[in-house]
Amino acid sequence: MANNKASGALSHERIETNNFLMIVLILLVLLVGGLVEIVPLFFQKSTTEPVKGLQPYTALQLAGRDIYTREGCYNCHSQMIRPFRAETLRYGHYSVAGEFVYDHPFQWGSKRTGPDLHRVGGKYSDKWHTTHLNNPRDLVPESNMPAYPWLLRDSVDADSMPAHMKALRIVGVPYTDEQIAKSSEELRGKKEVEAVIAYLQVLGTLVK
Ligand code: HEC
Repeated sequence: MANNKASGALSHERIETNNFLMIVLILLVLLVGGLVEIVPLFFQKSTTEPVKGLQPYTALQLAGRDIYTREGCYNCHSQMIRPFRAETLRYGHYSVAGEFVYDHPFQWGSKRTGPDLHRVGGKYSDKWHTTHLNNPRDLVPESNMPAYPWLLRDSVDADSMPAHMKALRIVGVPYTDEQIAKSSEELRGKKEVEAVIAYLQVLGTLVK
């Protein structure tokens, strides 16, 4: 290098001996690399279009999803089956982006104290879920999942649902005026546990 000094403005030696320049150039490389990886995802059909048959959550499922978020179920359960053999043998088909198009925010999670729940829909009966949510140890003696007995006692908040659905419509979930208008009525008198189960039972049921 020494006897072959580049005459260009940015010789390697200049970059390597200048912390500030090095940091700026590293950030530039990361920025361009990141954009090249991320930006195409916003325009690919496989990541932006709903999978065939995907419907926005019904009022009851949506209420259940809110309770799922409120109770922090995502702290122990992921909803993201990765495309590895060990995962697909246990849980079923790996998760695809088109299944989450109407999820705001998504519930992918990152911690698995319990099993992944993305394809739990239809795996157990409603009765099983009711018993399990009331006290997991009644069904799985060694379970360390918390009990959620208040879900069987408390009623769903029906009045806030129209505003909630309208907000989701702004970010692209295609709710009709009729669905929004009827939502409170649909939820009236429903227990929270019914909503959570309605949500769990629809999870991941579109891709086989
Ligand atoms: C502290 C961690 C933890 C939290 C929080 C938690 N779970 Fe679990 N969950 C577990 C564990 C561990 C298991 C496996 C043992 C069992 O079935 O109880 C499990 C199992 C399950 C199963 C059965 C899954 C299967 O395929 O067998 C469902 C459904 C479930 N949880 C739903 C929920 C819901 C809904 C919530 C929130 C209301 C929740 N869990 C919160 C730890 C947790």
